[in-house]
Amino acid sequence: MCGIVGYIGQENAINILLNGLSALEYRGYDSAGVSIKTDKKIETVKTKGKIMDLASLIIEKKINLNGHIGIGHTRWATHGIPNTINAHPHFTDNVSIVHNGIIENYRVIENELKENSITKTTETDTETIVLLIDMFLKDMIPQKAFKKAVGKLKGSFAIAAIFKDTDTIMLARNESPLVVGISDDAVYTASDISALIEYTNKFIFLEDGDIAEITQNEIKIIDKNDKNIERGIKIIEWSKESAQKGGYKHFMIKEIAEESESVKNTIQSRIDTNGNIYLKEELEIDEDFLNNIDRITIVACGTSYYAGLTAKAVLEKYTNTIVNVEIGSEFRYSSPIFSKNNLFIAISQSGETADTKESLRFAKQSGLNTLSIVNVKESEIARMADNCIYTLAGPEISVASTKAFASQLSVLYMLAFHIGNIKGKDVKKEVQYLLEIPHIMQNTFKQTKKTTQLLAKKYHKYKNFLYLGRGIMYPIALEGALKLKEISYIHAEGYPAGEMKHGPIALIDENTPTVIVSPNKEPFYSKTISNAEEIKARNGKIILLSDKESQIADDILNLKSMDYLFSPFVYVIPLQLLAYYIALYLGHDIDQPRNLAKSVTVE
Ligand code: AGP
Repeated sequence: MCGIVGYIGQENAINILLNGLSALEYRGYDSAGVSIKTDKKIETVKTKGKIMDLASLIIEKKINLNGHIGIGHTRWATHGIPNTINAHPHFTDNVSIVHNGIIENYRVIENELKENSITKTTETDTETIVLLIDMFLKDMIPQKAFKKAVGKLKGSFAIAAIFKDTDTIMLARNESPLVVGISDDAVYTASDISALIEYTNKFIFLEDGDIAEITQNEIKIIDKNDKNIERGIKIIEWSKESAQKGGYKHFMIKEIAEESESVKNTIQSRIDTNGNIYLKEELEIDEDFLNNIDRITIVACGTSYYAGLTAKAVLEKYTNTIVNVEIGSEFRYSSPIFSKNNLFIAISQSGETADTKESLRFAKQSGLNTLSIVNVKESEIARMADNCIYTLAGPEISVASTKAFASQLSVLYMLAFHIGNIKGKDVKKEVQYLLEIPHIMQNTFKQTKKTTQLLAKKYHKYKNFLYLGRGIMYPIALEGALKLKEISYIHAEGYPAGEMKHGPIALIDENTPTVIVSPNKEPFYSKTISNAEEIKARNGKIILLSDKESQIADDILNLKSMDYLFSPFVYVIPLQLLAYYIALYLGHDIDQPRNLAKSVTVE
């Protein structure tokens, strides 16, 4: 989704802005632009397309962009089509702004502007903000005009503004992240720390209702109650290298390769060699509460939702508790039934997903004990929950989530064993097995890379795929189908294998391959193979992922036998690889697939 970068310092702003925007490309966008304060003027260049197009335009137009103060933006269209005029920054002669989020009352503001004979030229909600600021600038200094305009906005926003007549960047945030980065001789701002990790590891995270004024030497913040406030500086230890491709063709394949490592990082610091789990520091929840827990409600979206769905069986088994797993966008508008000792878990890689975040807010307002499982440090969802267990997957840049999924699973498994232990279950054996999982995952990656490539070569021209699994493998089938459709644009449906005969079987013919995910575990295996027979009887092609040979498969991807409970960690890898190689054969933009965004910060 949209991304913001801002710079105020001694360097030429343009290079830093373009660099920062490139680091935000992974979020998904359709247009980009920059505004630089040059000598008493604001220059703006923007275009539909990618950062490279923006950079070419800057060279082509030979515009003087020398200046030490600037803002930049990548836009993911919400109001108005993706074109150059709707791209940010939006500007007048006096002020230029970039904005993430949605202004819900922009039509009301539009009318107020019309009454003052001010009309918009774009279809965006954002333009109303800049016109409002410009209107107030007639009677007041920039800082006051900015504050007055922000006071009129309803909705979610992160805004950065520069002015012709002052050497500051003004910032405002409400329900949309905005950070300030600090180095020795410059101050930065961005919607996401990954834009700035090349320049600093010191960050201030603005809070809802904050308005900040930054200069090269000073950061002044006022909070929602109009009080001056100091927000602490946090040190974030993400390396620049971890957010780069490191020799791989795409971030996605790099991140699949890192998957075992990210699980290792996530579990190793929390489990000792004797198999004891240490979650107490991150999980400041009364043991009595966990012992008497009577319901777990998990809310998430997309891949994170599938992680929750996969872990449901494990959590139920070890905690003896009802576990509901809900999709964020549905949950927040439902009337859920909570119980007395209800633990609420929000899962999110980005920690920004609007549907998950608002569900979490709803759970908090309902008085629930809330826990988040998040990858991005200090992100909204991480900070909003009563407790947060971070997945230590490192930055995940590719839009298609891979390593974050496995890390989320590992936290959920640890949690199940931890609560199980509190409830008196002996989980030593399971915890020991979990410690071995990264090694098994690493071998699986190596062993299945070539085969999945060959399968992709054979199957990449098919237009429809079905993915089937049973039990713990059903959500893995869903995740496999999601990966394929996201990056290859091939229609793929995930289904519980036994449910196929109730409808999707109508799709089966020689042109619809079915990927069946079935470890050799009874009763699941035999039942799934019976479903495979039904497919075969209709001339369907079958790709089987299993540790048991079967004559029924057209192609078999042999995996090593392992403990069934942990097989999701392993079976998901070849599914991710299959999607990757199919998209590669089709020549798609794998890391930034069309229409998708890494952080979905709108409803
Ligand atoms: C995964 O490949 C997707 N891009 C998407 O489904 C994602 O998992 C979903 O938007 C949730 O994101 P989050 O984990 O950052 O909340």
